[in-house]
Amino acid sequence: MPLAHESHVSALSVNVAGRPSVARHDYPAPAGDRHLAIQTVGSVHHGAVLGPGASSVSDNVVVRENDILIVDRGCHHVQDQNWHRDESCNARTDRNHPWAPTLPCYCRPVRSLGSKLPSTGVSVFAEMTRLANEHGAINLSQGFPDFECAPTLVEAVAQRMREGHNQYVSMLGVSELRQALATKIERLYGHRYDPATEITITAGATEGLFSTLMALVHPGDEVVMFEPAYDAYAPAVQLAGGTPVFATLRFPDYRIDWDEVRALVTPRTRVMLINSPHNPTGTLLTGDDLRALARLLEETDALVVADEVYEHIVFDGKRHLSVCGHPAIAARAVVVSSFGKTYHTTGWKVGYCSAPAPISAEIQRVHQFVTFSVNGAVQLAYADVVAADPESREVGRFYQQKRDRFLALLAGSAFRPLACQGTFFQLVDYSALTREGDADFAMRLVRTQGLAAIPLSPFLYTTASDQVLRFCFAKRDQTLVEAAERLCALTPID
Ligand SMILES: Cc1ncc(COP(=O)(O)O)c(C=O)c1O
Repeated sequence: MPLAHESHVSALSVNVAGRPSVARHDYPAPAGDRHLAIQTVGSVHHGAVLGPGASSVSDNVVVRENDILIVDRGCHHVQDQNWHRDESCNARTDRNHPWAPTLPCYCRPVRSLGSKLPSTGVSVFAEMTRLANEHGAINLSQGFPDFECAPTLVEAVAQRMREGHNQYVSMLGVSELRQALATKIERLYGHRYDPATEITITAGATEGLFSTLMALVHPGDEVVMFEPAYDAYAPAVQLAGGTPVFATLRFPDYRIDWDEVRALVTPRTRVMLINSPHNPTGTLLTGDDLRALARLLEETDALVVADEVYEHIVFDGKRHLSVCGHPAIAARAVVVSSFGKTYHTTGWKVGYCSAPAPISAEIQRVHQFVTFSVNGAVQLAYADVVAADPESREVGRFYQQKRDRFLALLAGSAFRPLACQGTFFQLVDYSALTREGDADFAMRLVRTQGLAAIPLSPFLYTTASDQVLRFCFAKRDQTLVEAAERLCALTPID
């Protein structure tokens, strides 16, 4: 007789050590608990832990998936195996079990893992970096520098650590950093945030985006975003119970079509999620774009979340236009930024969210339970560099030179670079080389040319990819030279 029925959960109870007896109890499965499954548990007999499908020696009772094993506290074998009392399991099973009052539950039932992000795999960046390592390839895929950050910044962090800044700091972030940021933002974009309430330091922009979307998006809400879209956006919206709605930035100039955006806005639109400078396309929002956004906001209650992590990496004399520089937008916007890009410290994972106080308060409600407090020594070091040089113009010049060097090196190749106004990513059209799709071509590049790049298709949700790859030029000159040699060696294959 099967131990688990469709509408019943079977509980095998193993009694006190030394008196191995196994009883079987069927009881109605509580709603939603039909998928309780045991993973590694089995019946316990004379120290043997048997897995699902194995039978106990004395009773020939077969433990199957979907059975719950309930073991008496007195069974020392269970404790020997380092099993632990599972409170959540207890709460669900004991309540319904006939022996509920007397049996603590040492089982480890596992609800069958219905994924919350079923169509999400390992990020394309992690995967390409893994492949690059596997093939000993030059890695122009993931967006991080292959050179060091300023030694003075490392020393400043070390000094702060030596001074004893090694414990939790304020949930909002250290006040020195929030004040430096408030001053910087006011100077650069003309909007004053109150450092006491309106700036929240987060564990990178990623946590800032996540906490913001968790705080603002309710089940059933829609979030309008632009594809190609940075890969962290849609999963965060989905985890919040919302639905991503995509407007398309089209090859080759990837400008926003505001009429298309307007058509996507509905009463359910909770957030417009924008990104400038834009990863992966390297485009910037213009003054006209911000005015169009402001006009659109007049017709909706939607909030704006603006990912501006590349705010200081802008080229050719252009200026980054923050949404906070536009008062009507700033009144209902969260600006998310990061220190990792500006200071070549992507691994330190410190970022921040700036928003009006009521919105910030909601973000902080989430942030306090996601990260609570971000590395204090690093924050203090950043506070000094932000205060000393709020404009950070050098980093823009630095990356413009990298971009230009990379473009010059590619000049003799079959790749056609697209316009890049900011970020440290260069898109190239490779259609003169092959008809392969971007993922296939990226795979071939890493395997045969020893060069890792990022295809655009993982940034796309509703539209097909063009024949475009993204290269990260935040690399030493020598890396760029070697990468370009490999790219220039490619000849058309069909
Ligand atoms: C557009 C964009 N937003 C957010 C992030 C994440 O920033 P952080 O490393 O500070 O979490 C990145 C990193 O690549 C990015 O490109």
